[in-house]
Amino acid sequence: MNYVLPFFSLSMFTIVGVLLILSTGSEASIGVNYGTLANNLPPPQQVAEFLLHSTVINRIRLFDTDPQILQAFANTGIAVTVTVPNDQIPHLTNLSSAKQWISDHIQPHFPSTNIIRILVGNEVISTADHLLIRTLIPAMQSLHTALVSASLHRRIQISTPHSLGTLTNSTPPSSAKFRRGYDAQVLKPLLSFLRSTSSPFVVNPYPFFGYSIETLDFALFRPNPGLFDQHTKLLYTNMLDAQLDSVYSAMDKLGFSDVEIVIGEIGWPSEGDIDQIGVDVDTAAEFNKNLIARVDSGTGTPLMPNRTFETYIFALFNENLKSGPTSERNFGIFRSDLTPIYDIGILRPTFRSSDPVYNPRSPVRGSSSKRWCVTKAGAETVALQRNIDYVCGLGLDCRPINEGGLCYLPNTVKAHSKYAMNLYYQTMEKHEFDCDFDNTGEITTIDPSYGNCEYQAN
Ligand SMILES: *[C@@H]1O[C@H](CO)[C@@H](O)[C@H](O)[C@H]1NC(C)=O
Ligand SMILES: *[C@@H]1O[C@H](CO)[C@@H](O)[C@H](O)[C@H]1NC(C)=O
Repeated sequence: MNYVLPFFSLSMFTIVGVLLILSTGSEASIGVNYGTLANNLPPPQQVAEFLLHSTVINRIRLFDTDPQILQAFANTGIAVTVTVPNDQIPHLTNLSSAKQWISDHIQPHFPSTNIIRILVGNEVISTADHLLIRTLIPAMQSLHTALVSASLHRRIQISTPHSLGTLTNSTPPSSAKFRRGYDAQVLKPLLSFLRSTSSPFVVNPYPFFGYSIETLDFALFRPNPGLFDQHTKLLYTNMLDAQLDSVYSAMDKLGFSDVEIVIGEIGWPSEGDIDQIGVDVDTAAEFNKNLIARVDSGTGTPLMPNRTFETYIFALFNENLKSGPTSERNFGIFRSDLTPIYDIGILRPTFRSSDPVYNPRSPVRGSSSKRWCVTKAGAETVALQRNIDYVCGLGLDCRPINEGGLCYLPNTVKAHSKYAMNLYYQTMEKHEFDCDFDNTGEITTIDPSYGNCEYQAN
């Protein structure tokens, strides 16, 4: 290791010890937008280590293809979405330029960095820039063709995020439509492209930009009278459900209700200008905590029951170089020293300040004897299941413990967890804490491999 991790302060660990762990049993996946319009952010390497070891966040979205950040997330398993800046869209309609772009920005990092999606531009339709809007879909198609030529199209999706400004109307949700002119010209071919490439429609619903004093409780998922949709006879209890169902209704009207929806950005600032009601740390914490509980619950929305939504909170950090009102610079959930601005239950309780073995500056390495990470005797099944969900949820290769895999039998939580924990330990830097798993793992020098089931040891 040729860098020294400045890592986080001790106070961080004291805080971590008392925070809740998010239940990792469900399908929803919590991501963050890693915006970098700030001059005080920690080095990407440190951010990657922090997200991986200290939070349950397993997805990030970048607003560009910053090579330093992409490098920092190599071998973390964290799913990374990158963005093509708006001004590059017209030029990428040319297939040879698109191929060059993939070869310059994606191929140097893939697959060690788990790049799963390329977003072409950001809220392009809302820019009302005709050149960008006209070239958006051709650029997406060229990039997809370039991925096909590189045999990456099954691993990397192409999409583009939209603001709710693409809808004409969203009250009640069932009446929503895409804006006239854009519906047939842009959205229809776009949705058709997304369907044919099995890619999601990405929207940025911001209840923060939709609430008034009267609808604050509705926006914050608090108890409230709700919004009744006369046409569908469905009751909406929160603004996000209403926004998502508006998007769904608009898609449905064009015949694309089957295309998956991803929440590309959503958040609430913790500080605003003096006259702003509902903008403070407690409210931001309440919104984001309720948001995670909501998208993680598997409840879905009135028109999309039982669906889960891949969700990216805006944002990882406060960004002090953004312009506009104070709130624009204060959407972050972490400070630049990686301490949380507020608790939304996404920190992992893996490390405790009292834990004597924990010392991030002296990893266990250099020994020539091989080591594996296995389950500790007496560890509870529930905790072991959580380990499986965590490791496999990171995108590490869990195929051997899936049905038909070489390590599927014995089909027990304990055996599968042992495999997953070792996989994680070997993929990480083999620090002792990479095998801690909340005190359910231990390191051994005895090879746990059996039959055709191989436990790797690097
Ligand atoms: C695409 O770009 C290449 C390289 O810049 C150029 O030679 C080619 O003529 C362009 N193709 C079209 C159709 O514009
Ligand atoms: C949603 O889940 C519930 C409970 O599992 C089930 O009864 C219902 O049929 C599901 N609805 C849909 C549309 O899948």
